[in-house]
Amino acid sequence: MVKIYRSRNYREMSETAAGLFLAQIRKKPDSVLGLATGGTPVGLYQNLVQAYQRGEADFSRLSTLNLDEYQGLSGEDPHSYRYFINTQLFDHVNIEKTRTHVPDGTELHPEKACRDYDRLIARLGPVDLQLLGLGPNGHIAFNEPDDIFPSGTHCVTLDSSTIEANRRFFRSLGEVPKRAYTMGIGSIFSARQILLLVSGTGKAEILKQALSGPVTPRLPASILQFHPDVTLIADEDALSSLPR
Ligand code: F6R
Repeated sequence: MVKIYRSRNYREMSETAAGLFLAQIRKKPDSVLGLATGGTPVGLYQNLVQAYQRGEADFSRLSTLNLDEYQGLSGEDPHSYRYFINTQLFDHVNIEKTRTHVPDGTELHPEKACRDYDRLIARLGPVDLQLLGLGPNGHIAFNEPDDIFPSGTHCVTLDSSTIEANRRFFRSLGEVPKRAYTMGIGSIFSARQILLLVSGTGKAEILKQALSGPVTPRLPASILQFHPDVTLIADEDALSSLPR
């Protein structure tokens, strides 16, 4: 059962999402948060930083697990997801960096990178609140359309549509990494609560299929229909294909 919050626009979506995160942090100051990168959560992270600056939030006891990382990129690379989450959020709040985790993009042995991350998830988990964005092809984290729902952390070859969508963060298409490490669907599913953020008309059709079409690994986000506690916060544009 997916609870839907309808926002007028991106700004309202980000504020509502920040409200949920802040409530979680206040309720359980040592929460384990699952974090996403990409364009969608930027406004949410700005709201969290502002709440911290106003003295309304304490991040000092939290732990975090990010969903994914490009293979081959170090945390110092401005294109890496570690760099993104540091500069968007962690550098501006009182979080203990040693308790923040992103798959190790510099570990070039996929088996080791994935095993290490799964061990970490097992040690820290379950995640209390897992943030997700929605890929234009229906992916969540970097679980691309497939014949199965992969359970644990794995190395993926990114879909051409994902590479195309993420090209805006790079100078050229050729620079976008082709492979990534991503948490699996099983790990995402073990989160107590999931928050899916979706914005823009470009995601309206895939969001409708994910919420009201068949549950299939060809559209990974459709599995969220089966999770007991999913909240969707989306703007009018993203909800424009769904009945009111
Ligand atoms: C990022 C991630 C991806 C994005 C998705 C949407 O950590 O896991 O699944 O959430 O590709 O990206 P944006 O928000 O850029 O449209």
